[in-house]
Amino acid sequence: MPQEHRLILKHVDDPNYGPDLATYRKHGGYRALTKALKMKRKRGAKGALITPQEWLREEVSRSQLRGRGGAGFSCGLKWSFVDRKSGKPIYLICNADESEPGTFKDRQIIYKDPHQLLEGIILSSWANDVELAYIYIRGEFVEGARILERAIAEARRQGYLGKNVLDSGYKLEVHVHRGAGAYICGEETGLIESLEGKRAYPRIKPPYFPAVLGLYQCPTIVNNVETLCAVKHIADNGGDAYAKLGTPNNTGTRIVCLSGHVQRPGYFEVEVGKVTIGELIFDANFGGGLRPGRRLKAVIPGGSSAKVFRAGETFQLKGQKKKVKLLDLPYDFDSLLQAGSMSGSGAIIVLDDTADMIAALANIADFYAHESCGQCTPCREGSLWMSKALRRLAGGQGRRQDAEQLLHIARNIQGRTICAFGEACAWPVMSVVEKFREEFETRGEEHERAATEAKTN
Ligand SMILES: Cc1cc2nc3c(=O)[nH]c(=O)nc-3n(C[C@H](O)[C@H](O)[C@H](O)COP(=O)(O)O)c2cc1C
Ligand code: SF4
Repeated sequence: MPQEHRLILKHVDDPNYGPDLATYRKHGGYRALTKALKMKRKRGAKGALITPQEWLREEVSRSQLRGRGGAGFSCGLKWSFVDRKSGKPIYLICNADESEPGTFKDRQIIYKDPHQLLEGIILSSWANDVELAYIYIRGEFVEGARILERAIAEARRQGYLGKNVLDSGYKLEVHVHRGAGAYICGEETGLIESLEGKRAYPRIKPPYFPAVLGLYQCPTIVNNVETLCAVKHIADNGGDAYAKLGTPNNTGTRIVCLSGHVQRPGYFEVEVGKVTIGELIFDANFGGGLRPGRRLKAVIPGGSSAKVFRAGETFQLKGQKKKVKLLDLPYDFDSLLQAGSMSGSGAIIVLDDTADMIAALANIADFYAHESCGQCTPCREGSLWMSKALRRLAGGQGRRQDAEQLLHIARNIQGRTICAFGEACAWPVMSVVEKFREEFETRGEEHERAATEAKTN
């Protein structure tokens, strides 16, 4: 029977485990940092003598860690893009905005194990010659921000932060910055604008790749909370040990947030790719199955912006002779991409046969229409248009051509915007309409018929 593999969430459900530094240290906390800062030059993978900082960057590359914020981009590769020759300061930003609907993992770490995150931030900053780091936290996490502030003060008192970290000569300050509760502040360039005190308008890439032109036009690393915690474990145990967890190219552990029509919604940390979607939904160690007497209707596998799967779908995966059923799909980055969706922020939303797909989609579309920053016309106008059409359809005033029109709008947003929010609002609409088209057409026809009858009576 598949089990959880708790690496990052190891202590969060222990009632005797607190967010204070003493508890963290009692459980091996700051050991990886202390060890790293005492390290001398050593031989790297290519045989040359390298600095301890280069060693950690190499270990992160060897671990094949992929970002846990949404895109699944290689962490080692991202760090290698940092412009270290510009002569400008390098910044690190921990993305703690966590606003993708269905996602509730980063907050567990922040509230229950803030020093683990701090250690990951300090190690990542040290490895990248960063002297000033920020934690950009979602505005609604008021208590989370307080907990982090307290943890930073404790760490500074104990010499883990400040002008001379653990007497190594390395200096680092970490500041917490609270957002004002806008989803787009989670997009890394919007976040940077917001941190600079401006409206969170995402920047155009190129040229504004944060690793080159980020905060204050300086090289900047933006990583998710969970990603930075993984760095702490990589520093502690080595990149190869981390890469042994999970599956090739999908290494390590991942926190999955399971919500919707399951018996046991919650967060589960698993080895990436070692557990299938079916096991996550039905296994007693995870979701525990659907509500009694219900059948599975749909699965949104990576937060509300991921393309939906319909129950019973099958997929042709690379290297597999036979098609793979939805419930047998390994929950990893690559399998989900090959199946036409993504694991995104690691949030699985389960819908059973009581779900009204049009109402569910209208809800999602309302969210995106509300959260569009408004810079790009296709996103600003299209997201609102789709939400209005879906509300009309859900409210009993649908038309036969609505399905086609929704697809037309969504296709005209996809690929035509400054940031990936365009895809985030287009993909749910495209996939739900394409996979549940009959519900839209039947509903549209019924509404038209009812309207005609009302007129003739
Ligand atoms: C619309 C939008 C919202 C996003 N929201 C978040 C978020 O809340 N948290 C997060 O870590 N990443 C979010 N991202 C991804 C970030 O832009 C960025 O890729 C990520 O923080 C990088 O960290 P990682 O490489 O560790 O995953 C969002 C992206 C988009 C397009
Ligand atoms: S795609 Fe949407 S959210 Fe992103 S910059 Fe354009 S208008 Fe703003």
